[in-house]
Amino acid sequence: MNFEILGTGSYVPEHVVTNDDLSKMVDTSDEWITERTGIRQRRIAVAEATHDLAYEAAKAALADANVEPNELDMILCATISSDLASPSTAIMVQKMLGATCPAMDISAACSGFVYTLDVAAGFFARGKVKKMLVIGAERLSKMLDWEDRATCVIFADGAGAVVLGEGEAYLSSKLTTKGDDDVIKIPNYIGLSPFSTLEEEKPCINMKGREVFKFAVNAMCNDVNEVLEQAGLNQQDVSYVIPHQANLRIIDMVRRKMEIAPEKYCHNIEKYGNTSSASIPLVLDELNKEGKLKTGDYLVLSAFGGGLTTGACVIQWTK
Ligand code: COA
Repeated sequence: MNFEILGTGSYVPEHVVTNDDLSKMVDTSDEWITERTGIRQRRIAVAEATHDLAYEAAKAALADANVEPNELDMILCATISSDLASPSTAIMVQKMLGATCPAMDISAACSGFVYTLDVAAGFFARGKVKKMLVIGAERLSKMLDWEDRATCVIFADGAGAVVLGEGEAYLSSKLTTKGDDDVIKIPNYIGLSPFSTLEEEKPCINMKGREVFKFAVNAMCNDVNEVLEQAGLNQQDVSYVIPHQANLRIIDMVRRKMEIAPEKYCHNIEKYGNTSSASIPLVLDELNKEGKLKTGDYLVLSAFGGGLTTGACVIQWTK
């Protein structure tokens, strides 16, 4: 026993920041950002905290699934930008929903949503849960150096969620971690301890973009091939590939290297930028809302990110 998806939801802050807006803040241009990343605009939270974004996405997913908060047996949230160290974002959502089930966060950067689905599958396999809420929510705008043009044009805020019920739709998965704090690193605030000798580092996203790029393309091709093989499927069986939205050129390179039809690769990075663990559920919800998903469709989710982590899985759409 594992799970099937009962409903999806998503939420992005209202405030739109265009490439032209950013070109007034740092030395960049709409042309550079669009050509190198595919991003045209992004949503940046103004008055919303990460848990507010997560809550809105969760409410929408519950409504789509026709499930009440008190039916939930567990809430998991993938995030690296929780507002509080404790309570976690998942717990804040539990409180806001008025749910009573256990709740916790999972940190695996941009692979977080896929990691969290795999953790969820374990709870279903052990018969511990019948209904679960899985969220990916980020307010990365608080972790950006808004004077660093290499990162502030890429990352953004948003949330996506799914409600899971018992089923057999989670067909295969693969998670990898390659310990590395050089290619992508986000230092935390080190605190006020008078005893600490640790050096304060700027609590902002540091990234070696080119290295991430190469890593991402190879990892996604390998992971997608492996999860398809595990599921007993071939590339022609795939209905949609839902890749992490980090860079449209990364998606294009993967597309060229694989034999999956090009139109099956989904993207909305143009509108939302890179929202880390929220990016995959944001695309999934968009597909669902647009009525593009048909019962029996095979969806391949594939993510990569800080860690370095990667995660991929095949889910059959059963709604
Ligand atoms: N506007 C204008 N110029 C910029 C810029 C910006 N926003 N950001 C960087 N540049 C400049 C650089 O300073 C560099 O200038 P130089 O040649 O004078 O030194 C030039 O553009 C090329 O920089 P480079 O970093 O090599 O560009 P790139 O083509 O690799 O694109 C990324 C940069 C970040 C868009 C790209 O590497 C990328 O997307 N990598 C993957 C990152 C990713 O996926 N991260 C998320 C992990 S989950």
